[in-house]
Amino acid sequence: MTEVLVTGGLGFIGSHTVVSLAYAGFTPVILDNLSNSRISVLDGLEQLCGYRPVFYEGDVNNPEVYDRICAAHTIQAVIHFAAFKAVGESVEKPLAYYRNNVGGLISLLEGMQKSGISNLVFSSSCTVYGEPDHVPPDESAPVKPAMSPYGATKQMGEQILRDIPSIRTQCLRYFNPIGAHESAQIGELPLGVPNNLVPYLTQSVAGWRGPLTVHGNDYPTPDGSCIRDYIHVMDLAEAHVAALNRLLGGKSDSAFEVFNIGTGKGSSVLEVIQAFEEATGEKVPFTIGPRRPGDIVQVWADTQKVDNQLGWKARRDLHTMMKDAWRWQQQLTRPS
Ligand code: WQD
Repeated sequence: MTEVLVTGGLGFIGSHTVVSLAYAGFTPVILDNLSNSRISVLDGLEQLCGYRPVFYEGDVNNPEVYDRICAAHTIQAVIHFAAFKAVGESVEKPLAYYRNNVGGLISLLEGMQKSGISNLVFSSSCTVYGEPDHVPPDESAPVKPAMSPYGATKQMGEQILRDIPSIRTQCLRYFNPIGAHESAQIGELPLGVPNNLVPYLTQSVAGWRGPLTVHGNDYPTPDGSCIRDYIHVMDLAEAHVAALNRLLGGKSDSAFEVFNIGTGKGSSVLEVIQAFEEATGEKVPFTIGPRRPGDIVQVWADTQKVDNQLGWKARRDLHTMMKDAWRWQQQLTRPS
């Protein structure tokens, strides 16, 4: 069985990718420092994978962790999720973001080189496009000045990987991952007040929070609210398996390949609210507030390259994303 190291494998996207890896016949080996996840995620993974995945608690910044893992496993590839990802938090704690996201990547790459591992799937973000000159941006669109330290760490990560051709990288630029596995065994954990739209929306509907604030309805868009490319987290997870197969199958065209991982469809904040209400029959309490600093007006993915080369396409629609997000929220117990 092909063993794949999944850093951040107990996180939101990492845990869903672990399931997709197991479904595809790979053996995931999880490394996570539990800074933004809980050990209980392993219980859900055990239900979905049919076995309890191997888990190492440790930090990507610790070189010894790679010695320990590579002594016990024949790792054929790494999928690297372990990073801080909150745009606003990165403005408040830039050094923590550079240490963890950039320093952690460098430690991982040194560990890979030491153990002769040369296949990597890297978690990047549409954030690297900033406010693109043209929407939708394709992968050749210019990388714009980062809007936050978080965005800068993703741009730096991509540049580092471009400069190390000995490691063959599939760089996946995520758009907006939302939803949860249809079983509701895993999903997005509520740790603190959500920055992102969908977890805040579902917690508001569940009565955990007050009304959702729509950050601005005076943008130059059809209904005045911002537009994003929301993608089901399981579609995103399956894209990682497609990228891994491309790497291991020797199909990648270069040492560093970039793919937009989105649906290619934009939805406004108000359209997301409407889709949630239609999909669940629940009413979303919301108010219109001021614009949120740092928000871009609109972005969705140009998916021509991924359609033609990766052999993957997002297949779950917005209603399904809303149903799965709500099913996950309903089985959560409110943190004390
Ligand atoms: C989406 C829209 C908000 C909350 C995120 C991550 C970023 C990247 C892409 C991984 C915006 C509006 C939100 C709320 C609202 N992911 N909103 N009320 O900012 O596009 O970026 O996904 O790399 O790391 O931050 O996502 O969900 O925060 O916002 O009106 O309470 O929803 O203004 O227009 P964003 P988001």
